[in-house]
Amino acid sequence: MNNRISIIYDRVRWEEKEIFKALEHKNIQFSKFDAKTLVLHSDDSVQSIQDVYGNSILQRCISHYRGMLIAHYLESKNCSVVNNSSTSRTCGNKFLSTLAFEKAGIATPLTLFSFSDKSAVNSVASLGYPSVLKPIVGSWGRGVVKLNDMDSAKALIEMRYNDDGLLSKIFYIQQHVNRPPRDIRTVVVGNEVLGAEYRYSSNDDWRTNLSLGAKIENCPMTKELEDVVIKASESVGGGILGVDLMESDDGLLVHEINNNVEFKGISKFTNDNIAHKIVDYIDTVSKR
Ligand SMILES: Nc1ncnc2c1ncn2[C@@H]1O[C@H](COP(=O)(O)OP(=O)(O)O)[C@@H](O)[C@H]1O
Ligand SMILES: [Mg+2]
Repeated sequence: MNNRISIIYDRVRWEEKEIFKALEHKNIQFSKFDAKTLVLHSDDSVQSIQDVYGNSILQRCISHYRGMLIAHYLESKNCSVVNNSSTSRTCGNKFLSTLAFEKAGIATPLTLFSFSDKSAVNSVASLGYPSVLKPIVGSWGRGVVKLNDMDSAKALIEMRYNDDGLLSKIFYIQQHVNRPPRDIRTVVVGNEVLGAEYRYSSNDDWRTNLSLGAKIENCPMTKELEDVVIKASESVGGGILGVDLMESDDGLLVHEINNNVEFKGISKFTNDNIAHKIVDYIDTVSKR
């Protein structure tokens, strides 16, 4: 008998629809849960939670904290969650990701962390211009700012420091990587790199996020790229991941790993059906 699988999401995108189709195709019984409608009881028993969700859960929430905390909750009730809470925690937080890359010896852009306006200004002065300021939690390029000179850097840091946002007093400031006007997005499922694409920034933005109008092209897979991507994926605990890299003067640098990877674009450049691979992977993990 097939395991029962649950999918938890907060928006049904093209990717979630493909995963539903793959589950149907493989005749696997599954349930869908909109995270925004859940009410989780602290005292529910392991048995009752497994009766509702099965023991194998795919966590696809776009919201970092929502998804990560749901994963924690379900794991506390002995459910198997993909991606697990630890991978979600690391990938959803750029500060923790950078530490994981460094610890595993993965080349990543030099980043300075500071915790006040004054030390942040010192970080920028030490990296020079341009440098890049990023929110430690966020995606789609939102709030990722190129700091071109001291006046604007100081103003931005001051604004951030006086903001009441939970994480706005934490400054993640990175060397600006001298790269072509593109980066590389790869999709990994378990120990397989399923595809890679170049993302070219549009004419009116330096960032290469698709949400900001980037154009995609096939990126040929090389042994070097594959090795770096697998090592990077392992450094955050593995799973279903989007590993992003930049081509620097010193070779490939991993700058980010996405925990809730979108794969519509890259599907054009791979022979694999990524949704099918994802379903097979959840099945394997739940049987471990
Ligand atoms: N250090 C950097 N040097 C040059 N470009 C960068 C750097 N960091 C980010 N970028 C550009 O900005 C984009 C968004 O940054 P990223 O760290 O991926 O944040 P997000 O999680 O919002 O996508 C990247 O895809 C890349 O194009
Ligand atoms: Mg990114």
